Amino acid sequence: MSSVNEIRTAFLEFFAQRGHEILPSSPLVPRNDPTLMFTNAGMVQFKNVFTGIEKRPYSRAATAQKCVRAGGKHNDLDNVGYTARHHTFFEMLGNFSFGDYFKADAIEFAWTLITEVLGLTKDRLLVTVYHDDDEAFDLWKKIAGFSDSKIIRISTSDNFWSMGDTGPCGPCSEIFFDQGEKLFGGPPGSADQDGDRYLEFWNLVFMQYEQLGPGERVALPRPSIDTGMGIERIAALLQGATSNYDIDLMRALILAVAAATSVDPDGPQKASHRVIADHLRASAFLVADGVLPSNEGRGYVLRRIMRRAMRHAQLLGAKEPLMWRLVLVLVREMGTAYPELVRAEALIVETLRLE
Ligand code: SER
Repeated sequence: MSSVNEIRTAFLEFFAQRGHEILPSSPLVPRNDPTLMFTNAGMVQFKNVFTGIEKRPYSRAATAQKCVRAGGKHNDLDNVGYTARHHTFFEMLGNFSFGDYFKADAIEFAWTLITEVLGLTKDRLLVTVYHDDDEAFDLWKKIAGFSDSKIIRISTSDNFWSMGDTGPCGPCSEIFFDQGEKLFGGPPGSADQDGDRYLEFWNLVFMQYEQLGPGERVALPRPSIDTGMGIERIAALLQGATSNYDIDLMRALILAVAAATSVDPDGPQKASHRVIADHLRASAFLVADGVLPSNEGRGYVLRRIMRRAMRHAQLLGAKEPLMWRLVLVLVREMGTAYPELVRAEALIVETLRLE
């Protein structure tokens, strides 16, 4: 079985071998970027590198990035706990090219990693491209040997990625895995695309433009690459789990909730376990990055996340504060990859207990 920790290491090693600088995750509170509430993708720390404002001593990088989507453009809060895939906090594995390689290498790297290193079955894979992106279509045909039916052209914003109202953006190509008939859902672009059967797990963005404002878009100085693979999704595929909440890492947190409440983690109240596990991660990582609960801005979003989790703890019958008791397990699972969690452990515990 490929654990979350093993997948993260394999991804970063693969790109290190291909000349990428391996960098730590940037904080969840973006540095010098008032347009964003929280870091919501791996490319955020490289925004100014893509636009040419900032120069770095490398032209390729790879990261495992902490992300929170709970406020602003990418807001998943209300769905969390009730679907197989939504999270407030998740990790995004990404490789980046700053005017170095472009579509051909990005597709080649992705294909080699998922089929040769991670061992996904080729027959189950399919991709989307932006409707007029003939170049990406032809590259997928050549590199993966896909028939035309496995390369689906999509004309909506699903295949044109942007970080927000402004910032770098471009057409993208998403990689899907067909989990089989046991799950409901149709291929991307079909009426049933929102079902769980076809799981999108990696997005390759061909960064070509910068959005300056509504209707105002300019070309980036050099075409670049930004990819993002949800680690929880690829772990689910590799572990044969149909829900992200059944992967090793999330399961460890959920079992800690079950042990603390004596409520069956797979029974009728399983959504509450999932809410708590997810929100524990968001809360702990936000506190570790300097956010404290308050009544405005980022602190208010954190407060809503914490209180939503605490309401679900009450639904599970907890009479005493529960969340702080779970921090130990989270630190055990994720503290090696994210040492800031270890450093902030006492503050996280105290903040959750007081709230
Ligand atoms: N920025 C893209 C995304 O968030 C790829 O990393 O999907």
